[in-house]
Amino acid sequence: MYDLKVFTGRAHPDLAREVCSYLSIPLGQAEIKTFSNENIFVRINESVREADVFVIQPSCSPVNDGLMELLIMIDALKRASAARICAVMPYYPYARSDKKDQPRVPITARLVADLLTVAGATRVVTIDLHASQIQGFFNIPVDHLTALPIIASYFKKRAIPSLVLVAPDAGRAKLAARYAEVLRAPMAIIDKRRIGNEDLAKATYMVGDVEGKNALLVDDEITTGGSLVEAVGILKDHGAKDIYFACTHAVLTAEATGRIRESGVKEVVVTNSVPVDERKRADNITVLSVGRLLAGAIRCIHSGGSIGRLFEQEW
Ligand code: R5P
Repeated sequence: MYDLKVFTGRAHPDLAREVCSYLSIPLGQAEIKTFSNENIFVRINESVREADVFVIQPSCSPVNDGLMELLIMIDALKRASAARICAVMPYYPYARSDKKDQPRVPITARLVADLLTVAGATRVVTIDLHASQIQGFFNIPVDHLTALPIIASYFKKRAIPSLVLVAPDAGRAKLAARYAEVLRAPMAIIDKRRIGNEDLAKATYMVGDVEGKNALLVDDEITTGGSLVEAVGILKDHGAKDIYFACTHAVLTAEATGRIRESGVKEVVVTNSVPVDERKRADNITVLSVGRLLAGAIRCIHSGGSIGRLFEQEW
């Protein structure tokens, strides 16, 4: 059996430490710094020869530096003779650039897959991809986890009466249906369209009945909060009572927290797939941890166990 080792880049060391504490192993020792010419330097400070190595590095600000740092760490580990190198990216970089839907645009999520593979990654672990077909951009195994059981279990415990699950756009209809099934609630769908290539969204119609009911909007990520504001507005117009919002990735740009505060949403539930520092937290934001989920997945991968089984347990 190979030794199990977990390393972290500078993107989210708190999450890596939490994962290591679930695994009861110390965090791998590495030195990472940025020289004055902005070149990143990495030195792995312990032997990884023939080890099973996991590098935790979600995509978060500064996104491009974090990605480059991950690639450099993987290269260092490969040259240090690690047996297997798994890139653990709870939030996948450039996930929204997943198709050529306009003339002369790139598929950057595919480019990232190629970069990771060339660097030396032999496996990828990620959570709630914006489009699950991104898995197919890789010719190495991808374990695509979901935070759905963690978030759904939180709402099960809240036992909110007359709950209706709401997809904020057609793309999230399947996600809302999965939540609706687990929470045994009906669902509705909002028709939201993106306007141009700016971070602008407009919600115009709704399919389903939310009149007098409590609504739970579910999405993969919240970035500017624009989609949330649009969705809350249309839900209020249709007579919804309390409105909750849940998503996995709390990207949360500078304007998002103020928008959440002013939107009238009762509670926003996110995970720590990316760091959610104090500045970003409004009073009504609840952060759930994906640390135990990632530790469970790493344990399964290392020992050859079933990841599917992870989702059969209570969260
Ligand atoms: C869009 O397709 C995604 O699923 C999210 O709805 C979107 O990324 C949220 O971004 P924002 O908070 O900027 O509206």
